[in-house]
Formats: sequence, C-alpha cells, structure tokens
Amino acid sequence: MFKILTKQELAPNVKMFEMDAPLIARKAQPGQFVILRIDEDGERVPLTIADFNREKGTITLIFQEVGGTTQLLGKLNEGESILDLVGPLGKPTHIENFGTVVCVGGGIGIAPVYPIARGMKEAGNNVVSIIGARSKDILIYEEEMAAVSNTLHITTDDGSAGHKGFVTDPLKQMLESGEKIGLVVAIGPVIMMRNVAETTRPYGVPTVVSLNPIMVDGTGMCGGCRVSVGNENKFACVDGPEFDAHKVDFAGLVTRQRMYKPQEKSHSEHCANHGKGGCQCHSH
Ligand code: FES
Repeated sequence: MFKILTKQELAPNVKMFEMDAPLIARKAQPGQFVILRIDEDGERVPLTIADFNREKGTITLIFQEVGGTTQLLGKLNEGESILDLVGPLGKPTHIENFGTVVCVGGGIGIAPVYPIARGMKEAGNNVVSIIGARSKDILIYEEEMAAVSNTLHITTDDGSAGHKGFVTDPLKQMLESGEKIGLVVAIGPVIMMRNVAETTRPYGVPTVVSLNPIMVDGTGMCGGCRVSVGNENKFACVDGPEFDAHKVDFAGLVTRQRMYKPQEKSHSEHCANHGKGGCQCHSH
C-alpha cells in the first residue's frame, strides 16, 4: 500500500498528491513515470513523476480528473492509500549541457516538464521555459518553473496571464532571432507537441516530446502504448516515453487517442452515477 501524505488542488480538477514511496523516490529520474492502481479491480493509470525527494522518500504525482479512475483517485484524501504504485518506468530524459534548452509545457504537461527543467539547469544549461494553458486559473507550477528557469515565458489562449497566444509564439521568436538552441523538450497535449515539432523542424533544432498514450501493463507486453516513430513501431512505456519529435507520427497518435475516447466517456458517466462509496462496477 502507498500512502497519500499530502493532497492539494492546483487548479479545478487538477490534483497533486505527495506519495510515500521511498524505493521509487530513490531511483526516479526526470522523464520517468509510474503506473498506479487504486485497488484490486482498478484500471492501471500511467502518471509521469512530477517531482521526487530522495531524502523524504516521496514522489509527487499530478493528475487531471478526466475519466472514471482519475475521478475516483481525486476523491482520496491525505492519509488514505492506494494499492499499487509501480515504477520508476520508462527511460529517463537524457540530461547534459546542451547550451540553451527550451522546456515547453502545456496544461497538465507543465508538471512533468518541471523535473526536466530542474535537471537541465543543474547540468549548467541556460534554461528557457515556456508554459501555457487555456487561461490563468488552470495554469499550474508557475513559481516552481520560475525557480528552475533562467527565463520563463507564460502564454494563455485568452490572455488572462502572460502573453495571449500559444507556447509556440515565444519559441518562434527565439528561432527567428537566430538564438542558438541546443534542445527543445515539449510535453503537453498531442496537438501542442505536434505544433512545437513543426515550429522547430525548419530550423533543424533537436526536439524531444514525451508521449503519454494509453498504457496498460507498462512493460512492453500488451502493445497498448504502440506509437509509430520514424516508421518503426515503438512502445512508449519501454522505448519512451520520450521520442524525437520530428519522427513521431502525430496523426496516428491522434487517431488512436480518439479510438479510446467514447469508451472513457461512457465509463466516467457510468461511474458518476454511483453513490458516495465510489464505483463498484469492477470494470476499471
Ligand atoms: S503499456 Fe503495454 S506495451 Fe506499453
């Protein structure tokens, strides 16, 4: 069992848990993720590790309540436990001194970008971070990102915080001004990651994205997280989750995500009809 030590609401429907998980905290590296299960019959949920503290033996998980399982998870409180936490999984981010690294985070994707930005800063990079959300009230981790970045740009779709526009705007400006960028790391909605890839492609700037497709076992056995990268089939859970953005088949990724949407929706509607004790349907 893994205990929730602290719980915080970062934005509407976005929760942060600090979990007691000393073994995972000891080994975790930026870019890696865990798979959790609330109980025996629970669906497996992959979540990127947003932070880890080796001394305290804790890891931080941030999630958005989008489906039945994440809604149930969001109902748990400090002091309560979940059954399973497996990890750290996936390959860590390759961290070295690239000179200038641009870290782009969109929406909930800002959380996993944070340890990467911190790692890049510690490695001596000039870290320029660009974080964006639809509006100010759902923008998370502003202070945390400011603390690990040499420069921080904020964008919102509606202009309620920072620059009105998209995360690709400041990136485009940097590229157009001829500023030398060693690496761009982008995590967020698939469409955002695709736009970042298309922005840097003409300039040939190495760009990495972290993919979070549907995952089931997290061990490369089920094929649930298959993605096409450079015309090769890869498994996000073992070969990733980070890939060369210029080689990812984003169109295929969007199609696969859509395939699962109706199922997720009906399941969350179904679970929402259950009583206070949560869903007992055993189909998670
Ligand atoms: S989650 Fe099953 S192969 Fe990756």
